[in-house]
Amino acid sequence: MMNRGGYFQSALGGRMVASLTGLGLVGFVIFHMLGNLQIFEGGDALNGYASFLREMPILLWAARLGLLAVAVFHIATTVRLALRNRRARPVAYVVHQYRSASLASRTMALSGGLLLFFIVFHLLHLTAGLVDPSIPNRLDAQGHLDVYGKVIHAFQNPLYVAVYFAGQLVLGLHLSHAVSGSLQTLGLEHAALNRLFKTAGPAVAVLVVLGNLSIILAVFLGLIHT
Ligand code: HEM
Repeated sequence: MMNRGGYFQSALGGRMVASLTGLGLVGFVIFHMLGNLQIFEGGDALNGYASFLREMPILLWAARLGLLAVAVFHIATTVRLALRNRRARPVAYVVHQYRSASLASRTMALSGGLLLFFIVFHLLHLTAGLVDPSIPNRLDAQGHLDVYGKVIHAFQNPLYVAVYFAGQLVLGLHLSHAVSGSLQTLGLEHAALNRLFKTAGPAVAVLVVLGNLSIILAVFLGLIHT
């Protein structure tokens, strides 16, 4: 019988870990998008929400550290699986697979790497304020951090609109395969559920990308402003 360490070292154990951690990260992306959509209700709503999260520092830091740990596990496991697959696969099989696999599934390593790049950029930009020194870092009339002002400032600039737009395309490509693949792994190829799982990935990807793009475009087109 395989011991627990052996299970997690195995390809199936690795896929389980990659799927569970990936779905956890998708949960964050959906939660984050829903929170950010409050920008359409105005500055008080978005800043009030952001400051509400900050009013529970222990919970907030626990969630941040948890998210970081899940992300590190996800990246480490998926990189290990990708390297293992590459070593194990004969060239002819790769060529054959490519014909039937979707663009999203063939480019998971590339889209994952680019997504990581985008997230680091995003944190340095909107959370740390290091990318653009002119980004406002002030309090609003209620004494809350003006997250609304930061987002408006960011997406009035076509350069950041282009970067975030590209980030959303990469996110959509990654999610459309990742969500379906993860559900299939956890459902262990349930024939009856397979079609549902196949549609879930692209559906989640489209919803998340449209939600995020609506914020970027609404600011850029001047529909929301300070
Ligand atoms: C239009 C799209 C997005 C907008 C407007 C946006 C906005 C923001 C803002 C304003 C913050 C800083 C919040 C604060 O300081 O209180 C933030 C943090 C963050 N964002 Fe985004 N974001 C977007 C997309 C994304 C995506 C696609 C991801 C991940 C794939 C992501 C991951 C994060 C993370 C991990 C943080 C740090 C959270 C924390 O420190 O608690 N964001 N985002």
